[in-house]
Amino acid sequence: MKLTTSLAIASTLAITSAASDSASSGKVLFSGVGYDFSYNPLGKIQDSKDQCSCELSDKTVWSTGPNAPFSENLAVHVRGPLKLSKFSFYTSSNFTIGANSSDNWNRTAYFDNTGDSEVHENVTFLGMVGNDTDCLGKKLSYVGQDGQSVEKQNTAPGRYMQPTSDVEYVLFSNVSCPKSSVNGGCGVYRDDIPAFYGYGGVTKMFLFEFSMPDDVFKSNDTSEFNAPSIWLSSDSLPRVTSKYGLDNNCSCLFQGCGSFEVFSANSSVMYSSIMSLQGVADVNAKNAKSALFNNEGNGYFDRPKNVSVTGGIIFDTTGNVATFISDNIKFDAELTASSVNSIISGLEQLGTTKVLEAGTQAAPTSSAKHNAGNVIAPTNGMWLFLSTVFIAAAQYLF
Ligand SMILES: *[C@@H]1O[C@H](CO)[C@@H](O)[C@H](O)[C@H]1NC(C)=O
Ligand SMILES: *[C@@H]1O[C@H](CO)[C@@H](O)[C@H](O)[C@H]1NC(C)=O
Ligand SMILES: *[C@@H]1O[C@H](CO)[C@@H](O)[C@H](O)[C@H]1NC(C)=O
Ligand SMILES: *[C@@H]1O[C@H](CO)[C@@H](O)[C@H](O)[C@H]1NC(C)=O
Ligand SMILES: *[C@@H]1O[C@H](CO)[C@@H](O)[C@H](O)[C@H]1NC(C)=O
Ligand SMILES: *[C@@H]1O[C@H](CO)[C@@H](O)[C@H](O)[C@H]1NC(C)=O
Ligand SMILES: *[C@@H]1O[C@H](CO)[C@@H](O)[C@H](O)[C@H]1NC(C)=O
Ligand SMILES: *[C@@H]1O[C@H](CO)[C@@H](O)[C@H](O)[C@H]1NC(C)=O
Ligand SMILES: *[C@@H]1O[C@H](CO)[C@@H](O)[C@H](O)[C@H]1NC(C)=O
Ligand SMILES: *[C@@H]1O[C@H](CO)[C@@H](O)[C@H](O)[C@H]1NC(C)=O
Repeated sequence: MKLTTSLAIASTLAITSAASDSASSGKVLFSGVGYDFSYNPLGKIQDSKDQCSCELSDKTVWSTGPNAPFSENLAVHVRGPLKLSKFSFYTSSNFTIGANSSDNWNRTAYFDNTGDSEVHENVTFLGMVGNDTDCLGKKLSYVGQDGQSVEKQNTAPGRYMQPTSDVEYVLFSNVSCPKSSVNGGCGVYRDDIPAFYGYGGVTKMFLFEFSMPDDVFKSNDTSEFNAPSIWLSSDSLPRVTSKYGLDNNCSCLFQGCGSFEVFSANSSVMYSSIMSLQGVADVNAKNAKSALFNNEGNGYFDRPKNVSVTGGIIFDTTGNVATFISDNIKFDAELTASSVNSIISGLEQLGTTKVLEAGTQAAPTSSAKHNAGNVIAPTNGMWLFLSTVFIAAAQYLF
């Protein structure tokens, strides 16, 4: 997401929040993450010069349960200036933060760029460096070591990537998507792109080793100058558009797919923030902005400019989410529940726990109900409703 935007919001909210000091290690907690909502997936992309639009299909899809929409497949976005030296992805069949009787974590993707030659398992590096169109921006393509050039095949970023603001690459798994189709595993996506699944599972954990040095080219204007970020989105977002707007059908954020800023920085601190439509219940600008950017109450991490830090994010089985920076993180192939819990419990909590508001819809099957608040029937009016919410929030966003 646009960092400048969220930071502007964070700073207005910070007025009411006492805990704004940052720390070099610690944890930021969210709870009640996940709600039931329905949407119409993309049906057709028209992306020629004179006709440029996205049509939704008639199909209704429900996203339900703990961590929704983050229970879906996620792509990992890395925006400079940021040097990523390690990345790993884990799943567990049942893990609750604080419960040592939870199941262990298994690593299913791994990138290590600290040795003589890099290791990458189940990771594909793509960037928005392909052909450009007015409507959808640049296409996904394999990206070179500099994060900016076009490659013909999967190539890991260079070890000293990347000092440049606003350069962003995106990590996917190595599992290829079936062909673009409403009912296909990856939905409808742009023609002629390398298409891979993101990282799936309700209960998941991403770990990173990285630093966020200052931008060394102080002159060039970019929209995200010196604002590095590691953030997660639905894997379908970057397969369709590189314009991550909140106001058009090409961006699944508009349908509720959500994004999660795990570690996003301004020139001094790094924060964690959820953007989803959970709890967006009435057309009230204050309500909308705090629901769209669920960072109220959260503390900050120091931006690791001159040091490499290790940190990550856990989505547990019951809708608790923790982001954390700690010296004790290992990137082993298997991590026991108690080793992960002891890292988390040993960390100072930054800010207060952000408790997400309940959702406003309930999936048709009673077994799938989760966090449903005032249940209203999903109708076509929902789109109009959301669009009104966005317009109400727009004065804060842009
Ligand atoms: C960075 O963000 C924090 C938290 O909103 C704010 O207190 C600080 O002033 C910001 N720093 C700069 C240089 O903008
Ligand atoms: C993790 O690996 C163990 C041992 O191979 C296996 O029994 C367990 O089902 C795996 N868990 C997940 C979530 O894949
Ligand atoms: C998941 O683990 C918790 C304790 O960690 C346990 O109480 C719960 O019954 C487990 N759930 C399932 C479905 O195994
Ligand atoms: C995906 O990565 C796994 C783990 O490194 C590897 O075993 C597998 O062969 C890879 N598959 C493809 C299609 O590259
Ligand atoms: C851009 O489009 C041209 C013409 O269709 C094609 O030859 C080229 O491979 C495309 N470039 C990328 C990076 O996909
Ligand atoms: C790679 O990641 C994908 C997405 O999470 C997963 O489905 C697949 O099983 C993983 N492959 C391996 C070899 O672990
Ligand atoms: C600024 O951008 C221009 C045009 O993209 C490029 O030629 C130039 O090298 C950049 N300057 C710096 C200091 O990065
Ligand atoms: C989004 O799609 C809906 C349903 O197809 C349509 O009514 C609406 O006009 C579209 N909105 C935009 C901004 O294109
Ligand atoms: C961090 O690095 C910058 C240059 O990128 C330097 O100016 C600064 O003095 C360094 N700070 C520390 C504490 O080493
Ligand atoms: C879980 O195990 C860790 C490591 O053994 C321990 O430090 C922690 O106190 C345990 N937590 C609970 C709730 O028992």
